[in-house]
Amino acid sequence: MNLRTLRNPPLNIARGQRAETTQDSRMIMPGQRYRLETAADERKNDRLLLKSVTQRNWSRVGSGVLETADGKTEPCFVKQYIDRTGATHRDHLRYEYDGARVAASALGDTVIVPTLLLKDEQRLLNIFTQVELITVDELLREDEHAFWQYYPLLLERLADVLAQLEASTSLVDNSSLPVKVRDYRSRGLALNFKGFEIRNTGYRLPLTSCNGNSPTILPPVVMFDFVRPYLAPIEEAAAKLLISIGLLNWGKPLTRFIKGPDIDMLDMARHYIGDWTHRDALEAELAIQRGFRFDAIKGANRSESGLKKIGLRSIGHRYLNQLEKWVESHYE
Ligand SMILES: Nc1ncnc2c1ncn2[C@@H]1O[C@H](COP(=O)(O)OP(=O)(O)OP(=O)(O)O)[C@@H](O)[C@H]1O
Ligand SMILES: [Mg+2]
Repeated sequence: MNLRTLRNPPLNIARGQRAETTQDSRMIMPGQRYRLETAADERKNDRLLLKSVTQRNWSRVGSGVLETADGKTEPCFVKQYIDRTGATHRDHLRYEYDGARVAASALGDTVIVPTLLLKDEQRLLNIFTQVELITVDELLREDEHAFWQYYPLLLERLADVLAQLEASTSLVDNSSLPVKVRDYRSRGLALNFKGFEIRNTGYRLPLTSCNGNSPTILPPVVMFDFVRPYLAPIEEAAAKLLISIGLLNWGKPLTRFIKGPDIDMLDMARHYIGDWTHRDALEAELAIQRGFRFDAIKGANRSESGLKKIGLRSIGHRYLNQLEKWVESHYE
């Protein structure tokens, strides 16, 4: 998530609409039925019926039904790697395919990893089982009380996920995975994913009501959008989680963005997962996020006024400086 998201909210595409400025004939549309081009022979006659489609910054996502030749149907979630400008990203298709498969085998017993059902190379589609979910950041914005009720249990589960990533170097066939060498000390390598962060985590719906009491059972946790799998120090995986938790207030709504990182949220995260990482790894992750977010402002939308850009930039700088201060004061 970055400032592009702040300026360009996801666009729901209505049935029959042709809103795109750059039209790629492969763009999926709601209400359409597609015959799939897949390498899996037994699924060659599957059809995809799309009910809704949303254009996001980097992809189009949709929900629909997968119909097999023998008449079975299955609700599915679809991602097409065509971005907001109409450009296609075949590498994203491959990375997400690889990430989803590796994550399912490594983490499938710890969290729900939506099953990757099919890939259609021609149409740039990955098709997953549909999971009714609310993401952690959506819950924070929609029901902050519920967010805090589940948060400690979620952090315990994320500690299990980190343990599993560390154990997975021997469980998964890693021979084909790239190894990222970092210049800081580490207790060892772990499986990691480009998309491993808190915004790609959610709860399966419905959330059980706790009648105002603290819940003792966590709703099933779902993780998705893993993207490229690789091996790197375990400290990097934990740093990605912690820094992304520190960035949960980034962007929308402006009131949260202005407040900066939520220190209570960070302190609690440190309690549960803080020992998995160290200052160098956290600072490296923060530097990546800083570059990524400010490049996005530099290349901002032409219609955005200079004043607004300057405002966003100064709020963003202050936000990241606060996060950096938190890291410096808690890690030597
Ligand atoms: N299997 C699934 N079933 C139902 N909904 C899903 C599924 N996977 C993801 N989603 C929903 O779709 C949203 C977008 O998915 P995803 O994060 O994969 O896309 P994205 O284009 O990478 O978005 P972003 O750039 O914001 O990370 C998620 O936030 C989640 O709410
Ligand atoms: Mg995502």
